[in-house]
Amino acid sequence: MNPLIQAALSARENAFAPFSKFKVGAALEDVDGRIHTGCNVENATYGLTLCAERVAVFKAISEGARKFVRVVVAADTATLTPPCGACRQILWEFCGDVSVVLVNLHGKTETYQLKDLFPKPFDASYL
Ligand code: THU
Repeated sequence: MNPLIQAALSARENAFAPFSKFKVGAALEDVDGRIHTGCNVENATYGLTLCAERVAVFKAISEGARKFVRVVVAADTATLTPPCGACRQILWEFCGDVSVVLVNLHGKTETYQLKDLFPKPFDASYL
């Protein structure tokens, strides 16, 4: 199996989702081929939950990575799970127009470009 997909599926196993029971994993590949993983981390206030994608992005940034090529999002749904709006914003600002690969536990995949999932973004170019 593709190592980035495997990494996202493995990261999903670490999801902390006692409230929704909805486990998500993400794996972000940087231009040097390094893989940065994340899972969703929920908490008792619900609203402070972080999605898998944002955990992966913030982990990568904190490790010094700055340029990225693709991200895989893994969830256990027949209709593949796309990034939420907040994650699309963060992915756009930190990763640019990366490929977004969605995958489920049966190996079904779909690939999008972030610019198509997140048209007309607001970003630092407006400031
Ligand atoms: N979630 C993610 O981690 N990524 C997504 O792409 C969609 C939603 C999480 C947030 C929350 O912990 C749970 O899934 C249900 O919304």
